[in-house]
Amino acid sequence: MAKMTVLHSFFQDIGTVQILCALLLFFLILVSATWKTSPFRMPPGPFPLPIIGNLHILDLKRLDKSLEKLSKKYGNVFTLSFGTKKSVVILGYEAAHDALVNHADEFGERSVVPSFQKLTNGKGLISSHGDEWKTMRRFALSTLRDFGMGKTTIEDRIHKEAEMLIKEIEAHKGQPFYDKWLMNGCTGNVICSIVLGKRFDYHDPIFVKLIQIVSQNVKLMGSPAVQLYNMFPFLGFLLGAPNILFRNMHEQRKFFVEFLKLNRQTVNENDIRSYVDAFMLKQQEEMKKPDNYFDEENLLVSTLNLFGAGLETTSSSLQWAFLMMIKYPEIQKKVQEEVDEVVGDGRLPTLEDRKILPYTDAVIHEVQRFCNIVTLPVGRETTCDTHFREYFIPKGTRVLILLSSVLFDKMQWESPDKFTPSHFLDAQGKFTKKAAFLPFSAGKRVCLGESLAKAELFLLFTALIQKFTFYPAPGVTSEDLNLEPDFGITSSPKYHLVCAVSRKQKKGP
Ligand code: HEM
Repeated sequence: MAKMTVLHSFFQDIGTVQILCALLLFFLILVSATWKTSPFRMPPGPFPLPIIGNLHILDLKRLDKSLEKLSKKYGNVFTLSFGTKKSVVILGYEAAHDALVNHADEFGERSVVPSFQKLTNGKGLISSHGDEWKTMRRFALSTLRDFGMGKTTIEDRIHKEAEMLIKEIEAHKGQPFYDKWLMNGCTGNVICSIVLGKRFDYHDPIFVKLIQIVSQNVKLMGSPAVQLYNMFPFLGFLLGAPNILFRNMHEQRKFFVEFLKLNRQTVNENDIRSYVDAFMLKQQEEMKKPDNYFDEENLLVSTLNLFGAGLETTSSSLQWAFLMMIKYPEIQKKVQEEVDEVVGDGRLPTLEDRKILPYTDAVIHEVQRFCNIVTLPVGRETTCDTHFREYFIPKGTRVLILLSSVLFDKMQWESPDKFTPSHFLDAQGKFTKKAAFLPFSAGKRVCLGESLAKAELFLLFTALIQKFTFYPAPGVTSEDLNLEPDFGITSSPKYHLVCAVSRKQKKGP
């Protein structure tokens, strides 16, 4: 009898447990259904672990590839935790354009990145925020315009540098050389002539050191160790790369501080030679105003930003351009034929020629698309609580936008994985713009040097292709060329040698 009672109450208990389980399940389904349609739901994403977040599923050597892989599972807008910090990742043209252009105000801030913060103290053009950034950006844009960005004088500066570069390349007499340092010297000099009002000899040891530092920092900033530092800055003392980065920046700062000191002694309001001169005069004008942002640190960091951002980006794009010409000699030949026909060899091509060189223009655009130098996502931050698509993104959330996913978007490009200049040509062979061509990004924090970079790419590429034919080093065939990028915050081709044979010479190497 006692046995029966125990059994009875056991089954009764099981019944109660079943009812409770069913209720719990019902409650969970209800919560999940309501959450899925809730206007306060953040984008979906992988479940984060304590402390490390989603670090265990990311390949920091190729973050872009990891983000693309995750988007296949979670869609083009998803949440990812880097350490304990949540970020929203955006991929593909539709979503990226929607965020950058249609929600320009909401996605218009720069996210705080610990290594950048330490390098810049949150000052200058790239890492500053709010009104300080607006003031610095407005001043830089208008001053760079005065110093030739978008005007004919920039053409003169770039032509002058193109002639220097041609002389340096001619000195190799068609023998193999590594083009990176010459290209860096050339683009470094274009930016120095605008920002500092002077150019350097390509072999000046100080200049060589400065451009090597920029180049090394670009690689270090994209390295796994610096990305780890950005998630866990307290680990800095264990990681080598961030410390090299900070040491390099210290050296660069020393050079620019010294330059600024000497420059201040010779500023003359009747002869404004450079961006730095204009900034120093503005400092005098603004001195007594409240909310004056024209302080010493903003002068120094803006100068460093322009030098750093303007050098390696344009140089890497040019190195890619000549590598692609070596890889596709038939395309190189077509470009040369067009330049020969329209410009001839009696003068350097000008910006005016661009519209009558549609094939050449298409090739340069395709280089920028296919070679995709900004491989790490651009970092933005929401300025307010934001409703984006069906999701909610709280104010101050870091937003990472992967531009490569726009430049390779299958919905936007006919053959995204092939180098195809016809992406930018219509049926009549006329140049045609593409909305998904966003190597400079878009919106409020779009690249500040876009028009300068475009002018440099066109004028330097056409000047060199007019004078030289590019070949691989002896023993290497076009097919052997390695198109894997040397990954960094921006990516350049891996070490390779090129031969530039003067077109006046009869035979190749
Ligand atoms: C092919 C060459 C270049 C490419 C592909 C490029 C690309 C970019 C990209 C993708 C951004 C981030 C924009 C964003 O946050 O959405 C950026 C920002 C920036 N770029 Fe460039 N860039 C190039 C050349 C230059 C040059 C020549 C300069 C210097 C005059 C420059 C100065 C800057 C600055 C100062 C910013 C920060 C803008 C801000 O936060 O307001 N860039 N660039």
